[in-house]
Amino acid sequence: MDRIAITGGAPLVGAIPVSGAKNSALKLMAAALLTDQPLRLKNMPRLADTRFLGKLLERLGARVVEMEGRGGPETIIHAAELTSSFAPYDLVRQMRASFNVLGPLIARTGHAKVSLPGGCTIGARPVDLHLRSLEALGAHIDLHEGYVYATAARGLKGARIAFPVVSVGATEHAMLAAVLADGETVLENAAREPEIGDLADCLNAMGAKVEGAGTPTVTITGVSKLKGATHAVIPDRIEAGTFAVAAAMAGGEVTLTGLRPGLLDALAAKLREAGATVRDEGDTVSISRNGARLQAVELTTEPFPGFATDLQAQFMALMTLADGESVIRETIFENRFLHAPELARLGADISVSGGEARVRGVGALHGAPVMATDLRASVSLVIAGLAAQGETVVNRVYHLDRGFERLEEKLNNCGATVRRLRGGGSAEAD
Ligand code: UD1
Repeated sequence: MDRIAITGGAPLVGAIPVSGAKNSALKLMAAALLTDQPLRLKNMPRLADTRFLGKLLERLGARVVEMEGRGGPETIIHAAELTSSFAPYDLVRQMRASFNVLGPLIARTGHAKVSLPGGCTIGARPVDLHLRSLEALGAHIDLHEGYVYATAARGLKGARIAFPVVSVGATEHAMLAAVLADGETVLENAAREPEIGDLADCLNAMGAKVEGAGTPTVTITGVSKLKGATHAVIPDRIEAGTFAVAAAMAGGEVTLTGLRPGLLDALAAKLREAGATVRDEGDTVSISRNGARLQAVELTTEPFPGFATDLQAQFMALMTLADGESVIRETIFENRFLHAPELARLGADISVSGGEARVRGVGALHGAPVMATDLRASVSLVIAGLAAQGETVVNRVYHLDRGFERLEEKLNNCGATVRRLRGGGSAEAD
């Protein structure tokens, strides 16, 4: 299995184009199942996760074509006819977002058999809210031997669904099913992540009637049929935020291009508080640090527009070199501090108690072999490696390949020394 070696110490200077958002792309791909016409997705990230979901869509009968368009990578998904409504364990186990095909399959065909996603290294991650939403919309759901058997013989019906906790995935799943339901669906306490707005924009381009996406109340008026559309995937705020933190940590100046206004606000506020300079021009954001020491800051992860849990590990890496003690509280997922002991191998001083980590800044980090534990945790180790003295080798980089497109190339174009070492290490399922 591949590893990544980072020679630390060089500042990052240059421009980095931000790719399309993984988390959005995966839900947009599932939306393609809702119509017999082609859905053309522009600004698609090319990642292990999107390739993987493409394979599942093909298994269900869709044609998936990846191509290089004039404006960048595109994927055309044409689900003219669905030949199967079965998503097997093998395919859902490897990538949780595969579970999102359940709603569209029920909405389009009236039945589905989809594996439960199973556990995950960052906590229990249940799907009860997904299933309750589909039941509220009139689907009959049975759980049997790890599979969800769902039927809605006479179609789905609009409903009022109040989420007890904010869930990005459940909000999206309910939207994906409700667009073809009979009547009006109101989602209360809906997630407000930009990816929700992106999904609503795409569904509306396909002929759906979704209002209020980006607010806590989303109203969907069901339609009987959706059509094909062309839609550009929103920029990846987590990828962008990761490079922003990397620039603050390694020093230098990085300009992120291809963004949209408002995607990095919560992170930018914390970076400024820590002593980095952030120049936000909407589509372009520059991050720099002129060599002055960073300052410790406190942060708590929250649903959007709060500080994203997917940037928590990266920010923790940054705080390992800040003056003072920073307190980082994780409120979205339990067990999301797996990167802390790995950062400690580089010399970081971190203590974790429940959902709270205390990071006492040290003078320097020193390169060491470390283990990637999950997607965002693994990139925090790369960032730390950029600022560490000597060489850091990150094992199990398949985690990185799931969610970061051309990571080495993008960093090396800014003066970093990041090499991929082919093979070695032991294979292990995610
Ligand atoms: C999505 C993102 C992930 C991000 C997360 C939070 C994708 C592919 N992944 O994950 O990168 O970290 O949003 O921004 O888009 N919960 C339940 N029952 C459910 C569903 C969720 O209790 O049925 C809980 C979870 O355990 C968690 C909280 O709700 O504590 C939020 O999770 P959720 O927003 O659903 O995260 P995902 O959609 O899985």
